[in-house]
Amino acid sequence: RYEKLWTVAALLLIVGLIATVTYGAVGPGVTMVDDSGGTVDAQSLGDTEFSDPGVTQVDNNEYEVHVVARQFLFQPGTAEPIRVPANSEVTFYITAADVVHGFELAGTNVNTMAIPGQVAEVTVRFDEPAQYGIVCHEYCGAGHHTMAGQLVVV
Ligand code: CUA
Repeated sequence: RYEKLWTVAALLLIVGLIATVTYGAVGPGVTMVDDSGGTVDAQSLGDTEFSDPGVTQVDNNEYEVHVVARQFLFQPGTAEPIRVPANSEVTFYITAADVVHGFELAGTNVNTMAIPGQVAEVTVRFDEPAQYGIVCHEYCGAGHHTMAGQLVVV
């Protein structure tokens, strides 16, 4: 009967929508990479660059920033701002220590998820001194709405 067909079609549509949304969240512009030659799980953050996260200069005007997201802060970013120089290309490597978080640099195209066991990589150029807010845009618990930080381009 047609009712059954419509039910199946509606279900397929819903599944499709969820797939699209999920893909959109972690898809274009963001590569999930493994930064350590192995899996990065929350327990072994101590064996990776994420044990002492922060800003590293890798070349003239080229920087890497390792960020750990956890309930309910960014390290670095929350307790102290992330500082990078103007006129630089900055690659962020972002992971999470507990649950899924978001990492959005308000006013830039940096907007990715921070997922335990995975490393999100995103590169952005900063031409001029500025300040950007860092926002967690994935619900991560009771303190989600307080989870924020700052990036300062000096
Ligand atoms: Cu972390 Cu919401």
